Parts: sequence; C-alpha cells; structure tokens
Amino acid sequence: MSVTVRVPAKVNVQLAVGAARPDGFHDLANVFLAVGLYDEVTVTPSADGLRITCEGSDAGQVPLDRTNLAARAALLLADRYGRSADVHIHIAKDIPVAGGMAGGSADGAGALLACDTLWGTGASREELLDICAELGSDVPFSLVGGAALGTGRGERLTPLETGGTFHWVFAMASRGLSTPAVFREFDRLAEGRHVPEPVASQELIAALAKGDADALAATVTNDLQPAALSLFPELAGTLAAGREAGALAALVSGSGPTTAFLVRNPESAAAVQRALAASGTCRSVRTASGPAPGATVTGR
Ligand code: C5P
Repeated sequence: MSVTVRVPAKVNVQLAVGAARPDGFHDLANVFLAVGLYDEVTVTPSADGLRITCEGSDAGQVPLDRTNLAARAALLLADRYGRSADVHIHIAKDIPVAGGMAGGSADGAGALLACDTLWGTGASREELLDICAELGSDVPFSLVGGAALGTGRGERLTPLETGGTFHWVFAMASRGLSTPAVFREFDRLAEGRHVPEPVASQELIAALAKGDADALAATVTNDLQPAALSLFPELAGTLAAGREAGALAALVSGSGPTTAFLVRNPESAAAVQRALAASGTCRSVRTASGPAPGATVTGR
C-alpha cells in the first residue's frame, strides 16, 4: 500500500517583516496565496528504513538525506506515535527548488499528511499543524492552502476569504537564494533604521475577498524584495520585463528568487509568459492560478 499527497506552491501577496527577534526569527504579517503548481509526495512502507527519492527537472538540487523536510516530517510523526519511520518517500517535484515558493515546505506537509494517512495515527488537525510549525514557518500553510494571514514567524494562520481566481505568471531564476541569507541581508539593510511592527493590509485583504485583481495589484508588497534584489540584482531586469509585457503587478515571491506577475486573465498570462520567455532574463516561465487547495490525498 502507498499514499500519494498533492501539495501546492505559494506566493506571498504581502510580506511585512519586523525587526529580528532574540531567537533570530522575524515577526511577520505574511499573506499567503496557494497557487496551482504542485509537488506530489508518495510514501510506501520500506523494509530498509527511511529513504527518499526525487524526480523532476530540479531533482538534482533536492537533498536526499535527513535534512529534507519530508524526512524530518516522517521522523517527527513517527517519534510522536512511538513507531519507526520505515518509509520510502518519493517526491515528484514541480515547484522550483530554493525559489521562494515553499517547495521544501510543501514536501514537509505532504510527507506528514501521507505518513499520517498510511499509519492511521488518528492525529488531530491541530496536532498536524503543530508538527508543521515545528518543521518550518511556511509548512502549516502548505497543509492548509487557500489564502491565509500568517503571523508570529508566519506559522500562526488565520484563513482569508477569496472572492475569485487570481492569475499569475512565475519566472524561475537561473540559481536559488537561501532564505536565511535573504533575512540576513534584510537585517543588514535595516541596520541603524527603525523597523516598524509588521501589520497586515486591510485593503489587500479586502481585494482578496472581492477577487479584484486590480485592487490586489495596487496593494501587493514584499519587504524582502530589496534584500533579494541586493543579493540577486539581475532580478530587476526580470521584473521590468514582466511589467513592460503588461503585468498588473510584479514582485519577488517570498525570499525569491522566483518573480511573480499578477495578470488579469489567462490570455494576459499567456502573453506575459511569452514575453518573459523571450526576454532572456530567466530560466523558465510558468503560469498558475490561485487559490489552490492545501495538501490533499490523491491516491492510496
Ligand atoms: O522557519 P524556516 O526554517 O522555514 O526558516 C528558515 C530561515 O528563515 C530561518 O532560519 C530564519 O533565518 C529565516 N526566517 C526568519 N523569520 C521568519 C521565518 C524565517 O528570519 N519569520
């Protein structure tokens, strides 16, 4: 028997970042939107202990040891329920690696739900969300999907309403960016300046609830964008190419380096995709829309 779970990528439509906390994390007002780019995680009982394999164009960059969030998820759940994590975890990867789209978090949430289903632990949703929060700040959202405001370090979620579908184009960059490095650059750029408390934008939340792409475009913000651009200046060219092609908004997704372009409809998405692909400023270009559902069992 095996269990397969499908898990979405995310884009942050607002990422307000506060000053570094004593524990090194940053308080956030983080508005997540799940989008329809998915990883698929399949777990199968294994006679030779915990093992991970990965397929997909970025598979070579995925760690196959116990640092992989999918492995850590299986180990944490097994530990809580007093069993051993004897599973083969296979990841079919479509979310860019180290791209600011929660690809690693998706695999953590996916493996957790898959193992929980395989083992029939009977864990409550709250217990699963607790384990997700232990795995990483973005992991609870990968489980929940849709749209949500993340506070604290991003792990405390309040679901948000969405009144329609938002269409996006994503430009994958030629290399990854490390999330801790981007936060460190944020701290460096903020040195000697007052960093205000992160506050969720009510205008942005209203735009999501109305399904109004123009209003959303007018309110999207990402406080990590200057840090990502400082570490990866070429991203400015990608953002400019998408804007010139008619995107309503252009921003770095999370800690980057994937850039995200909000467009009005699928036709406009196709046009912006073509223009970005022709611009020579990125590695590949995808379209996806949101909200998308969170981690979902698709096969067993
Ligand atoms: O929580 P997660 O392990 O995904 O975070 C990865 C890194 O990103 C952290 O070690 C930290 O450097 C940074 N981070 C942060 N503040 C947050 C979330 C992440 O500084 N709210």
